[in-house]
Amino acid sequence: MSDMKGKTLVITGATKGIGKAIAEKFAKNGVNIAFTYNSNEEVANGLANEWESKYGIKARSYPLNILEPDEFKPLFEAIDADFDRVDFFVSNAMIYGRPVVGGYGKFMRLKPKGLNNIHTATVNAFVVGTQEAAKRMEKVGGGAVVTMSSTGNLIYIENYAGHGTNKAAVEAMSRYAAVELGEMNIRVNAVSGGPIDTDALKAFTNYEEVKAETVKRSALNRMGQPEDIAGAVYFLCTEEASWITGQTIVVDGGTTFR
Ligand SMILES: NC(=O)c1ccc[n+]([C@@H]2O[C@H](COP(=O)([O-])OP(=O)(O)OC[C@H]3O[C@@H](n4cnc5c(N)ncnc54)[C@H](OP(=O)(O)O)[C@@H]3O)[C@@H](O)[C@H]2O)c1
Repeated sequence: MSDMKGKTLVITGATKGIGKAIAEKFAKNGVNIAFTYNSNEEVANGLANEWESKYGIKARSYPLNILEPDEFKPLFEAIDADFDRVDFFVSNAMIYGRPVVGGYGKFMRLKPKGLNNIHTATVNAFVVGTQEAAKRMEKVGGGAVVTMSSTGNLIYIENYAGHGTNKAAVEAMSRYAAVELGEMNIRVNAVSGGPIDTDALKAFTNYEEVKAETVKRSALNRMGQPEDIAGAVYFLCTEEASWITGQTIVVDGGTTFR
């Protein structure tokens, strides 16, 4: 879509999985990409070079730890030095491993520290990132924000209580943001994904079981792929979605209803 060419996407956590697929979808359509990494600096630099040469856009990667919301301000200042505008913000990155201990698990084993980390990484990262992005979007007459959510806030997924409740919270927060940012011509939506085959899902203790169950439940008889999510996020940022705000689009291969 030509109205996307020359615009800039800021996205967190685009070294792999869903974030990478989203960034590549925008890059393919002529959008410049400012994206973050946490542990995979080399991979991030490689992707920036690849997207620049493949799609003729500008791409730069920046370090970010979503457990440190204070990092968003300097992140956006660094982006300001490299890009002349911000049009889209996608809050995508998610923590795993040690920081989710006490947050990823059965209800009786949940602990405030792990739950708080998931809240910081999910809700606070969305709020602070969107605030910084909105200040830039206002200067160019508007923009679009999308937060990643998951259907684990609608249906039971083993060990997912910490994530599921915070995805519900970020969906609610995105609706509040949509109401208040509308006057800046900024639309805010969420994309709620069913199980998608990424490293994050592979970290589930019952990955094989979730995968088999997803294929069984899906009306389309297959697992979700990162590209399945990227299309919905891209659509929400285009002019085709010009009157869609404060919504959650469920992209789940039909798994949630069964
Ligand atoms: N996979 C699913 O089934 C599924 C379903 C629905 C929704 N989602 C949501 O989609 C989003 C992406 O998930 P994914 O499956 O694509 O995950 P993923 O493949 O594990 O990728 C996670 C990304 O987050 C970054 N990251 C990790 N820890 C970080 C930290 N502390 N600070 C900043 N960035 C950090 C990683 O960067 P480095 O590689 O540099 O460390 C990576 O780019 C998440 O919000 C997730 O909840 C996933």
